[in-house]
Amino acid sequence: MTVSPQSSKVDELIRRLDQAVEVQDDAIRCQNVKKVLIDVVNSGESFIDPPYLKPAPDKYARRLLHRDPKGRYTVIVMVWGVDQGTPLHDHAGIWCVECVYRGRIRVTSFSVRGGDPEAGIVQFAKETVVNAGMGEAGALIPPFEYHMIQNPDPGPSITIHVYGGEMTHCHIFEPVEGGYLRRYRELSYTS
Ligand SMILES: [Fe+2]
Repeated sequence: MTVSPQSSKVDELIRRLDQAVEVQDDAIRCQNVKKVLIDVVNSGESFIDPPYLKPAPDKYARRLLHRDPKGRYTVIVMVWGVDQGTPLHDHAGIWCVECVYRGRIRVTSFSVRGGDPEAGIVQFAKETVVNAGMGEAGALIPPFEYHMIQNPDPGPSITIHVYGGEMTHCHIFEPVEGGYLRRYRELSYTS
């Protein structure tokens, strides 16, 4: 999908994100980004164009809303159809802030309890389950970057994700005897 002309709210989002990512510390940067997303979403304005908001039939949709020309971050709109979600996955070492734009999502976080997530079988423990509603945001900062997302609602849910770069791949973790096994997953944008 090409980036289409944007509303003034999207312009505001980008202008404020440009400032938010300027600090060097990931924790502060994510706090800044989180505040911007919460502010902009809670304005109540419907600022994302309808083509970005269509569910995809087979799996959740991810559409590029903005790519920072300096490569510092990307903004992705994700659409979660009924019963759609992700497997347990990492973020390839990239920080991310996620904010609910419409509907709700359920985020289940995991921590490593044994083994090496980069080689062989790894054991995870479930940490927290958060049901986030409109205007609520969470951050994921490596090495604490393992989670899964589900749409718990009977209709589509929409989230906005800001990544510290462009996430072209991640790893998913498939349950096997004795734990989970990592698999490379290429990521693409939905048309
Ligand atoms: Fe994720």
